[in-house]
Amino acid sequence: MRCLLLIFLFAALIQTEMPQAQTPPASPIANVSGRKTTSLNGAWHIIVDPLESGLNAKYFRNRKPKDKSDLVEYDFEASETLNVPGDWNTQKEKLLFYEGPVWYEKTFSYAKREHTRVFVYFGAVNYRSRIYLNGEALGEHEGGFTPFDFEVTKLLRDGENFIVVEASNQRRNDAVPGLNTDWWNYGGITRDVLLIETPETFIHDYWVQLAKGSHDQIDGWVQVDGDRRPQQRVSVEISEAGIKTSAVTDADGRAAFHLPAKLQLWSPKNPKLYDVLISSGGDAFHDSIGFRTIETRGSQILLNGEPIFLRGISLHEEAPIRGGRAYSADDAQTLLGWAKELGCNFVRLAHYPHNENEIRLADRMGLLVWSEIPVYWDIAWDSPATLANAQLQLKDMIARDHNRASVILWSLSNETPVKPDRLTFLRTLAEDARRLDSTRLITSAMNSAEDDGPDRHIFRDPLGEFLDVLGLNEYYGWYVGRPEDADRQIWTSVYDKPLIISEFGGGAAYGRHGDAATRWTEEYQANLFVHQLNTVSKIPHLAGLSPWVLMDFRSPRRPLPGIQDYYNRKGLFSNAGQRKQAFFVLQKFYRDRQAHEPPLP
Ligand code: GCU
Repeated sequence: MRCLLLIFLFAALIQTEMPQAQTPPASPIANVSGRKTTSLNGAWHIIVDPLESGLNAKYFRNRKPKDKSDLVEYDFEASETLNVPGDWNTQKEKLLFYEGPVWYEKTFSYAKREHTRVFVYFGAVNYRSRIYLNGEALGEHEGGFTPFDFEVTKLLRDGENFIVVEASNQRRNDAVPGLNTDWWNYGGITRDVLLIETPETFIHDYWVQLAKGSHDQIDGWVQVDGDRRPQQRVSVEISEAGIKTSAVTDADGRAAFHLPAKLQLWSPKNPKLYDVLISSGGDAFHDSIGFRTIETRGSQILLNGEPIFLRGISLHEEAPIRGGRAYSADDAQTLLGWAKELGCNFVRLAHYPHNENEIRLADRMGLLVWSEIPVYWDIAWDSPATLANAQLQLKDMIARDHNRASVILWSLSNETPVKPDRLTFLRTLAEDARRLDSTRLITSAMNSAEDDGPDRHIFRDPLGEFLDVLGLNEYYGWYVGRPEDADRQIWTSVYDKPLIISEFGGGAAYGRHGDAATRWTEEYQANLFVHQLNTVSKIPHLAGLSPWVLMDFRSPRRPLPGIQDYYNRKGLFSNAGQRKQAFFVLQKFYRDRQAHEPPLP
């Protein structure tokens, strides 16, 4: 009996120790920028709380002493502030390397209105957050790069309110990403915080895209939320194309439609966006949507039925010039403007979903997008909670951007080890992605090419079977051999699928010069790009490139004094926005390539 009791106690302990698998909340409200919102951005009071004493002390109550003898050991109003959005690491020097909980508080006034529902929306909080309004818990969220929201209609007061957020960027081996990354662990409320106002019955989400494989049929649905969601008439209007349709929602509040459409197709050369008006009952808003198809045929990627070569570059969500986590429309304009200047028609947004400003700008600028969840290097492949976490991040990445024409690739992972539990994990994610979005291509970046004789490499990662497009990272001339050795390498694949060289590159400190054999000089990096570009052009199945990386970015793995100073220096731009010699090598390669491309429609 005693033994049974011990087993029971031990099991109970394990259960409390394991992080609870998140009950995936409904996908976040779509098209926030098209709705009636009140911004909670700006200065928030903060308390840095490395031992998480704030939880027991109940900081979320934002209490003041009742009388002169009452003991309260915190005071948000008297505490320092951080700007939201923005990581804490680059706002306060003492927080540059900080990993742990920080409590945020903001007091705001609000005028309640009849028949109006209110939600508090977070563009992202890295990495885990607990949210409270007026001292009441709203919920928790895990995942540092996807939006989430909570309804606050009943908890909001007419007049003064206060919101408290505990944000923690504490790394864990069962998180997504895990303990080890080659980017800075920027913590905090890193994107917008908004109050969203909706009618009592409102449009939560919608899908308005071309039907898979069709250039002249729109497949769509509208999801209505609210007690009266059944039997709601919804309408979708694209007046410029002479399209107006309506449908009635079913018992779950969903209405589907399928209709003929004569549209100008979206492409890098003609990033045509249509104004789409979506309405139902008292709810109505506009979205700008492009229409295109993306498919594969053997080793080709077809945009609108025509082969396209992806002239790309990889980039982190690193704020140009100012540093830290990028979040603004200006940050996006600078970064994607540099990609355009490079001659790109494609960007790999590494290694996590970037902010919505970037995706919407890519729609307008005509840049094709590879969007990725941070299943990066090694994670806890055998943990159900880790899988549920990755599935939620994938679902919310797709939910936010599934109407964006620029997004053509959902990437499941980067450089993960070839082993059975990883394959099972990623195969599940591939099945999820296809179920959530049958129109886009599924990919992953892998560094698992195997030696196949002297200077020969073959790609036969079993994960390739479950992908539409294969991403291959290889670092000849930097981590392997000399740049000149890249010329002799032969790369083949067992899959008749498009292959993107999703990373190659090497480091250089801007302004450091010497001969091409001297590491860390601009000449070395430029020479590496010359030899790499010679080689990759010969790869059969090659459908695109996204060399590593647009701009130098902070990384705790790169301490080399006077050269790295905690920056990864593989950028074609320095973090101060200066162009290195390799920038011009790649720019010339893309311009020459573009000059010989068949014109796309
Ligand atoms: C890897 C990885 C990147 C990393 C790069 C590097 O391929 O995917 O995240 O920054 O190599 O070593 O610079």
